Amino acid sequence: MVTRLDLWDSSIPSTCEDRVNDIAATFHQIADARRSIREFLPDPVPDEVLDRCLESALKAPSSSNLQHWEFVILRNPDVRQKADRVCLDQKLLKSAPLLVALVAHTDTWRRNSRYILESLDSRGLLRPSQKRYWGKLIPLVYLQDPLGLLGLAKHALSRGISLFRPMPSMQSKAAGKITAHKSTALAAATFMLALRAEGYDSCPIEGFDPWRASKLLGLKGGAEVCMFLAIGKRTDQAIWWDRILVPKEWAVREM
Ligand SMILES: Cc1cc2nc3c(=O)[nH]c(=O)nc-3n(C[C@H](O)[C@H](O)[C@H](O)COP(=O)(O)O)c2cc1C
Repeated sequence: MVTRLDLWDSSIPSTCEDRVNDIAATFHQIADARRSIREFLPDPVPDEVLDRCLESALKAPSSSNLQHWEFVILRNPDVRQKADRVCLDQKLLKSAPLLVALVAHTDTWRRNSRYILESLDSRGLLRPSQKRYWGKLIPLVYLQDPLGLLGLAKHALSRGISLFRPMPSMQSKAAGKITAHKSTALAAATFMLALRAEGYDSCPIEGFDPWRASKLLGLKGGAEVCMFLAIGKRTDQAIWWDRILVPKEWAVREM
């Protein structure tokens, strides 16, 4: 039997090409249909839909596979009310049946590196280069002190070396946060597309109070809310205007 994944395999007969095209067309339709939804129907988001979307989102790419994200499903009505307030009581929240907070972590790299190494080991795949990568290089890049001085020194050192040869930045504290937010935003994008594929909608929310958000979610210093996501099914009035895209040549260039 041909599985979905096999369809991209060049060894499969060309009779399957139509199905590959169908899958591509479906994906592009999903990307086109995803909009930021500002008014939701009261229909709840079924657990199995949410779960499937989370499963896909958790497969998003992440820097060094460190999966810096955490999805916090805000189900408790009291927490939800406080979260709406933290999100400045934006109007779209009044109708959104579900709110999820996406947290970017710079404090999980040690645990997750260890997990990756143990997983590789238990599969009999652990190579010395991987041991060096997650065991030595990742701590070198990610380790910070509370004041961020170590990070500044590492950043300055790597910048100095980069004057003579290509050198990745051994992150400052701020750069570490950017990496965590990049990976988390990719998981958010995957999640939103998965929701649309399931017939559900979302609106990313960056308009929130970051200090109160951290307090509400009980986050420590090494974690920040990347964004909230309001989720549900769209109403007919949910989209404020047709999509406005800046000219493609502003967004894409070749050199
Ligand atoms: C990081 C981020 C933060 C956003 N924050 C908000 C927000 O706080 N409130 C809101 O109504 N929309 C918010 N949006 C939605 C954008 O306004 C929307 O994506 C943009 O206008 C493009 O429209 P579209 O998503 O329908 O294609 C946010 C989007 C992103 C990616």
